Amino acid sequence: MSDNPYSTAVLAWYETNARDLPWRRPEASAWSILVSEIMLQQTPVVRVLPAWRAWMERWPTPADLAREPSGEAVRMWNRLGYPRRALRLHACAVAVTEEYGGRVPDDHATLLSLPGIGAYTAAAVASFAFGQRHAILDTNVRRVLARAETGIQYPPKTQTKAETALAESLLPPTPSVAARWGVAVMELGALVCTARAPACADCPIAGQCAWRLAGKPAHEGPPRRGQTYAGTDRQVRGKLLAVLRDSVHPVSKDALDVVWDDGVQRERALDALVSDGLVDPLDDGRYALPG
Ligand code: ADE
Repeated sequence: MSDNPYSTAVLAWYETNARDLPWRRPEASAWSILVSEIMLQQTPVVRVLPAWRAWMERWPTPADLAREPSGEAVRMWNRLGYPRRALRLHACAVAVTEEYGGRVPDDHATLLSLPGIGAYTAAAVASFAFGQRHAILDTNVRRVLARAETGIQYPPKTQTKAETALAESLLPPTPSVAARWGVAVMELGALVCTARAPACADCPIAGQCAWRLAGKPAHEGPPRRGQTYAGTDRQVRGKLLAVLRDSVHPVSKDALDVVWDDGVQRERALDALVSDGLVDPLDDGRYALPG
C-alpha cells in the first residue's frame, strides 16, 4: 500500500489553506466533533459556527445535553434547518451517557450503532476525533473524486458502491495521514473544487484531474436542481416550529395558524412535525416542544 498520487499535493495545500475551524483544533473533544459533523451535514460552515459555539457552551458534554428534555435541543437548534437532527443528537447524547459512561466511543462499529449516527458520521468521528483510517464521503469529497478520478463533473445523485471503493482505494496507509487526507479533500471541495465555479487555477491537483484533462465535459443527464425552500412544506414546518421555539410556554392553535394562510398545507406541516416527534400536541389543545 502506498500513498495515492494526490496525497502529498493535497496535504500540502491543506497545510496552508485550511480554515481555522474550532472543531478542527487539537483540543476539540470527540463530542464537539460529533456535534459539528451532525450540524455540517446539511448546513454551511458560516451558519454552523455560531450555533456550534452556543451549543458547546451550553452542553460541553453528552451528559449535559442528556439531562435536558429533547425539546430544549430543538429550541437550541434554532434556524439551522432539518431539525430532526436536534432530536437525534439528543438521543445520541442519552445513549452515550447511559451506555458508554458519557464518553463518545472510539470504535467505528459502536459509533454506527448510536442513534442518529450513520456511515458518514461514524467515519468522520472515528477519523477526525480518534485519528483512524476510514473513507469519508460527503458531498464535497464525492465531487472532488468524481472529477479527479472518474472525469465527470458531478457524482451520481445517490452514493454508489463504486464511489466507496474508490475512496477506500485512495486512503493513505498510515491512519493519522488518512484522517488528515479526509479533511483535506473535504476542504478542497469546499474551497476550490466547488460545485458551480471550480477554481482550477488554484487547485493543487489540476495537472492530474481527469475531468480537467478531458476538457471539463458538462454533466450529462437531467439538470441538477438546487434545493427550493420558498413555499415548501419545509418552510411551513420551519415557521410553525419557530413559534414554539420563541415561546417558553405551550402555544395555542391560533398562534400557529397565523404563520401560514394555506390551511391544507399548514395542517400537513403540523401533522408532520407531530409525527416526527418535534411537536407535542397537549390534551388541552395547545402545542409544545417535546418534553
Ligand atoms: N471539518 C471537519 N469536518 C467538516 C465538515 N463536515 N465540513 C466542513 N469542515 C469540516
